[in-house]
Amino acid sequence: MINRELSVFVTSGSGLSKNFLFDQGPKIFLAPMEGVVDHVTRDLITGVGGVDLCVTEFIRVLDQSIPDHVFFRDAIELTFEQRSHTANGTPLLVQLLGSDPKRLGENAARAVELGAVGIDLNFGCPAKTVNRHDGGATLLKDPRRVEAAVRGVRDLVPQTHTVSAKTRLGFSDKSLHREIAQAAEAGGASWLTVHARTRDEGYRPPAHWEFIAAMKDAVKIPVIANGDVWTPDDYKRMLEISGCQHAMLGRGLLARPSLALECKGLSEMWTWGQVRPLVSQFVKSSEAARGPRFASSRLKQWLKSLSLTYTEAAVLFEKVKRIETLSSELFEKNATW
Ligand SMILES: Cc1cc2nc3c(=O)[nH]c(=O)nc-3n(C[C@H](O)[C@H](O)[C@H](O)COP(=O)(O)O)c2cc1C
Repeated sequence: MINRELSVFVTSGSGLSKNFLFDQGPKIFLAPMEGVVDHVTRDLITGVGGVDLCVTEFIRVLDQSIPDHVFFRDAIELTFEQRSHTANGTPLLVQLLGSDPKRLGENAARAVELGAVGIDLNFGCPAKTVNRHDGGATLLKDPRRVEAAVRGVRDLVPQTHTVSAKTRLGFSDKSLHREIAQAAEAGGASWLTVHARTRDEGYRPPAHWEFIAAMKDAVKIPVIANGDVWTPDDYKRMLEISGCQHAMLGRGLLARPSLALECKGLSEMWTWGQVRPLVSQFVKSSEAARGPRFASSRLKQWLKSLSLTYTEAAVLFEKVKRIETLSSELFEKNATW
């Protein structure tokens, strides 16, 4: 339960260091994933190591101010002693999704007052309901709207705080990819993250890393490459083809928690023996956060991801499902007593 009194934490604290992307070499970001990468997962994955920054699940901005408790719910790290950082000290950006520049700006300014070290703007969400309400990837159809949205936020957020944009290569086709990058830069984005697919391509392989290279060539701001990195070898190829120094990893990190460490040459792939304690910790923390039903559904979700790397996770997944079936059968029988 989020305590509304937490709003006493309002602050005008400092943002990410200006040199964040330029200090100490290549950076790896944990991708925002709605319904997956909540604070429990952020804590766990950043705790493994190798991740330099993470981003909240998107928070939708419609025509009203977002209540403080929503910010605290989706970015509980704002309430930690070291605001807007995970338990191990990894900075967290608050991601907003919307289309009205003024509303986006006002809500971004509020997130910063509450302690966010920076704001990320979502121009990539492919969900039909979101796009129908003029949000996410819809704005890619007209790069001027990307520019206006970024500017609306940049104008109201202190210069000490980063404002970044996360896009795809386009909506239905890739014809505007360079214009999209230039629009984000013109609006004042500190950097741009590109998921190397159009909205219509959804999550279908392959990711078109070569288009990221063209977007990078079109702007001076740093570009972060994203899409379909499952192994250190994919990481290397993505950076080579895109010409980028920095990467964002999503599903690959969930399937292989040591992936960021491996990409940086800091570890071999973790064994199941190393990963298993994380699974127990994950269940405990998810249950403490939102109760047993939530924990069990998140456990199955994560085990499915881990199954891509570890056969032991697939076995555990089947066991959990079996236990659930047995207990619901028992419950049904009890109900007829
Ligand atoms: C279930 C799911 C939820 C996602 N939610 C978000 C989101 O809230 N904000 C966002 O910018 N991207 C979101 N994405 C896109 C990811 O951040 C990332 O761009 C995409 O998964 C490609 O990277 P990957 O191949 O490394 O996973 C989501 C992706 C998935 C699969």
